[in-house]
Amino acid sequence: MSSTSIFDELESQVRSYCRNWPATFTTASGSSMHAEDGRSYLDFFAGAGALNYGHNHPVLLEALIEYLRSGGIVHSLDMHTATKREFLRTFRDRILAPRDLDYKVMFPGPTGTNTVESALKLARKVTGRQHILSFTNAFHGMTLGALSVTGNSMKRNGAGLPLTNSSKIPYDDYFSGATEDFLWLERVLSDSGSGVDKPAAIIVESVQGEGGLSAARPEWMRALSELCRAHEILLIVDDVQAGCGRTGDFFSFEEAGITPDIVCLSKSISGFGLPMALTLIRPELDQFAPGEHNGTFRGHNPAFVTGTAALNHFWSDDTFVGQVKERGDELHDGLSRIANGYEGAVVKGRGFLTGIKFPDTSAASRIAAASYQRGLLVETSGPEDEVLKTMPALTITSDELRSGVDIIEAAATEVLGAPVAGLAAAK
Ligand SMILES: Cc1ncc(COP(=O)(O)O)c(C=O)c1O
Repeated sequence: MSSTSIFDELESQVRSYCRNWPATFTTASGSSMHAEDGRSYLDFFAGAGALNYGHNHPVLLEALIEYLRSGGIVHSLDMHTATKREFLRTFRDRILAPRDLDYKVMFPGPTGTNTVESALKLARKVTGRQHILSFTNAFHGMTLGALSVTGNSMKRNGAGLPLTNSSKIPYDDYFSGATEDFLWLERVLSDSGSGVDKPAAIIVESVQGEGGLSAARPEWMRALSELCRAHEILLIVDDVQAGCGRTGDFFSFEEAGITPDIVCLSKSISGFGLPMALTLIRPELDQFAPGEHNGTFRGHNPAFVTGTAALNHFWSDDTFVGQVKERGDELHDGLSRIANGYEGAVVKGRGFLTGIKFPDTSAASRIAAASYQRGLLVETSGPEDEVLKTMPALTITSDELRSGVDIIEAAATEVLGAPVAGLAAAK
């Protein structure tokens, strides 16, 4: 009954998270997940960012159950539905209008990689150029276009063919401050003899969720935006993981005060873990012909229902933002306390997308495994899994946050030995 043998017998070996967390989960609530062997786990993973409001948030759950009970339509491609109308009105009134953002909303297929594909295709169509620039250690998804702008060599190798029409440029602080930002790019774009074709777009994450939690400085994001404007290159911000409040504000780029040409959203936009994605487009760029980018699952009405409920519940005023920033500081302080005990360990990331990079690249994986044994789900990030990545639900309580940090501290002590006192002052 409780055997896991069917997974070994039938499921493809491509499965991954279940290898580190082999429990069989049954129920979940808020920041807790429960397994069928009776154990409970504190969740510092939040569905890889798809559960920003925790598991089964009661307000969203009620809205969903009521909708389904009432016989509400579930599947409708991109036909008009009352729930889509309500979602669009709410998104306009709660998110776009208060931020003075003028975007058209496109529904691509319901995953992060789908919104990235739609953004890349649209940028190429609108500009008539083919090349896309992306950043070292970027992650944008697993379909071929998104993979072509992704850095990780293991993931890229899975493509099985050359990933073309894109190049990588250094992300913020790639040279540890040794090279002036955008020095090379500015020069080659201004030199008709450089041999570098002008790109259609540059795609960027404000915080590199999968690539090691590097967070771009606001001034770097502003310089990137200005460079794109000056050279008529479209700026795509991939907010699939860092958006929907993960860094404090609804959009991760708000801190920098920039307005990207295209924004990719997915993961927590439905609020409930239901698949959904949006591509936000400056109106002049809204140039796909009807059906030119298509997909069967672009009108998942249950996701519109929970997405609308989430926007109304959390984003009607600034209360939630204030709370997320406060808790984010608590998380940062807790992780700093741990990092300060180990030579060379540093805290990375921003807001609720933050973690610790250890100089011993095997440390984070071992600490994550020891945390799991103690009842905490926490993953790793970076090309060598060298960063312990914490991504709790934004609704987590202070007590839960403290418990999780305490578990990480105990796991770090088990793996790396007792922290060294007085290191912080030396750092
Ligand atoms: C920044 C970013 N873009 C795109 C994706 C791809 O999203 P999905 O896995 O839903 O295709 C991810 C997934 O982690 C992501 O972090």
